[in-house]
Amino acid sequence: MSKTNETVRVELAERSYDIRIGENNLAEAGSFLLEQGRATHAVVLTDSHVEEPHAHKVAESLAAQDVNVDMIVVEPGEPSKSIEAAAGLWDAVLEMGADRRSVVVAVGGGVIGDLAGFIAATYARGIRFFQVPTSLLAQVDSSVGGKVGINLPKAKNMVGAFLQPIGVLIDTRTLDTLDSREYRAGMAEVVKYGVILDAALFEQLEAEVGRINAGDHDLLRGVIAQCCRLKADVVRQDERETTGLRAVLNYGHTFGHAFEALAGYGQLLHGEGVAIGMLCASRLAERLGRIDSELTDRQERLLTAVGLPTEVPDVDPDLVLKKMMHDKKVEHGRLRFVLPSRLGHVELVGDVEPQDVLASLKR
Ligand SMILES: NC(=O)c1ccc[n+]([C@@H]2O[C@H](COP(=O)([O-])OP(=O)(O)OC[C@H]3O[C@@H](n4cnc5c(N)ncnc54)[C@H](O)[C@@H]3O)[C@@H](O)[C@H]2O)c1
Ligand SMILES: [Zn+2]
Repeated sequence: MSKTNETVRVELAERSYDIRIGENNLAEAGSFLLEQGRATHAVVLTDSHVEEPHAHKVAESLAAQDVNVDMIVVEPGEPSKSIEAAAGLWDAVLEMGADRRSVVVAVGGGVIGDLAGFIAATYARGIRFFQVPTSLLAQVDSSVGGKVGINLPKAKNMVGAFLQPIGVLIDTRTLDTLDSREYRAGMAEVVKYGVILDAALFEQLEAEVGRINAGDHDLLRGVIAQCCRLKADVVRQDERETTGLRAVLNYGHTFGHAFEALAGYGQLLHGEGVAIGMLCASRLAERLGRIDSELTDRQERLLTAVGLPTEVPDVDPDLVLKKMMHDKKVEHGRLRFVLPSRLGHVELVGDVEPQDVLASLKR
């Protein structure tokens, strides 16, 4: 095993498993997977941005362990998380002779992880699932927590399941080929963890902006491991999203989702919307007397330093409000927000007045 690996143990009622984080460790994928149990057949699902070289390295490492490997390459992007794509994959996996000894291996970003996990959860009433997340967002967020699924034409992530993987392998070197804008967008979720749960992480990010922007692997390994630990801990306490605790992970997302949707398709990446959304939520917390402006300023300085946008896009404020009313965090027509009360701590705040929301869109 590579000396640089760090392991995060995810302890859940349904299943416990390890996330292994290191540098240049894709060649260990096969042996790591087999440590979790016997497997004779693997279906590697990837997209055409990730296939070469990452998915091939994973496939080779599985073949080296005498696992029979099939690979399926889908189009990159959100449209692949569709009913049509899933239907094609069920047929393809059947054609490959997949059975209960097979494992679905996701090598890619959140789209591939969610789609592959959904196929694993449903094919033959559920087969095993292993993940190799390759985008920063997938490494710190979507590969932890067991939510898998696809989109309906009118509703994102509306059909899916909870399925924990048998293991997760993260190679920080895969980030070297990731588009830098996607990398920065993933960093918004990292900053989010600092604000909601971990002041020391936030301070580390402030102190290490240079290494973050340079993609320093030693730093990334520790930061990614810490984000996985933080999310795993929240998930452990609210595995099926029943107690509401998991909602803290949505800091900045109510505003962010509205900006993403209203800015026009492809204008704002998810993480970019979240970056702007966190600042709006923080200003809202200021208005409600929960924090002073210094906490908002600190977030803005850090987000700017890692190259994220911080300005609310030019959208109709009333449409933002309307969009939020359709968001999941609305209860009986009342707006609810995850708001900071100090660095490293947030609370779910109900009954927020629309005029306060509108005011926090302005600086
Ligand atoms: N399951 C969950 O808990 C959860 C949480 C958050 C987000 N998500 C889902 O995750 C998806 C977004 O994930 P994402 O941001 O990773 O998007 P993505 O999977 O579309 O990846 C972004 C882009 O980067 C490319 N890419 C990924 N890794 C690469 C690499 N190493 N080198 C070069 N290119 C690479 C992809 O091909 C794609 O073009 C959304 O569908 C969202 O709903 C799920
Ligand atoms: Zn997010």
